[in-house]
Amino acid sequence: MLKCICALLVTAGGCIMLYSIMTFLKSLANFKVQANEQKIFADWIYTICMILMVFFFVCYIAVDIIFLVADTVSMTNLLIAFVFVFGAVFVYTMITMLKRMSTTISKKTNEIIKALVNAMEAKDEYTQGHSIHVANVTKLIYKYLPERIKNKIHKTRLIDAAVLHDIGKIGIPDNVLNKPGTLTPEERLMIEQHPMLGKKILEPTSYQLIGEIVYYHHERMDGKGYFNIPPEKIPLESRIIAIADTFSALCTDRIYRPKKSYEEAVQIIKDVAGTQLDAEIVKVFCTIPKKEFENLVRFV
Ligand SMILES: [Fe+2]
Ligand SMILES: [Fe+2]
Repeated sequence: MLKCICALLVTAGGCIMLYSIMTFLKSLANFKVQANEQKIFADWIYTICMILMVFFFVCYIAVDIIFLVADTVSMTNLLIAFVFVFGAVFVYTMITMLKRMSTTISKKTNEIIKALVNAMEAKDEYTQGHSIHVANVTKLIYKYLPERIKNKIHKTRLIDAAVLHDIGKIGIPDNVLNKPGTLTPEERLMIEQHPMLGKKILEPTSYQLIGEIVYYHHERMDGKGYFNIPPEKIPLESRIIAIADTFSALCTDRIYRPKKSYEEAVQIIKDVAGTQLDAEIVKVFCTIPKKEFENLVRFV
């Protein structure tokens, strides 16, 4: 009887430990995003936690086998079995708490991002909902990318950069941003500084890498972008956002022109593939069915 209780307790502990490992693995990607700035340190912690949990799980199986093959077990063995169960419950509680903390941090970060984007879009009524639309189109392009390209991209970072790509417009005077007529060369130069301002805004935060993507979002494949950066230096994420940004801008009414139809917008994007936009990503973009774009939320 005592032998059965011991074996059952250790089996329960083993199951809880296995469930904890699975929960930990599922949350791993999210934890890593939160710990962006201390990535190497975080990677070490995760590896150590993973090894420890797998080691404990093997111990549970070993102890379980010992209890099952043993002729008799004592009260001390029962105590050990209880310790094993409580150990597993403790590990599970810690992982659940960590997961909750990570979710709370991520929720709060998203709220701050939304507030920043709202502040930026409040300056320009024509671009309201633009950031979210660009993020949704970016998500769609990512979905259709071949695995070999997907493997080179950090998805969360890509989407966050898409939401924040125009954040630098916060620093552009309203009269320049909303000017209905032709811009003077000085005003144009001011507008063209917004990727740089965006990078500067994000630099002191844990979104530094996102700032790098934001910085290149108006660069062109022929090197004639805002900062004349050669194509080999333009990050893949910035190239994807550039296509989503162009498509979103074309499909929106602007002070100086009405919006284009889906077909016209796609044709314009095809026409500038290789000069303005990345030809390979444009090819992927053109494989996305029209109905996928119709399902996107334009204004949030
Ligand atoms: Fe922009
Ligand atoms: Fe934009």
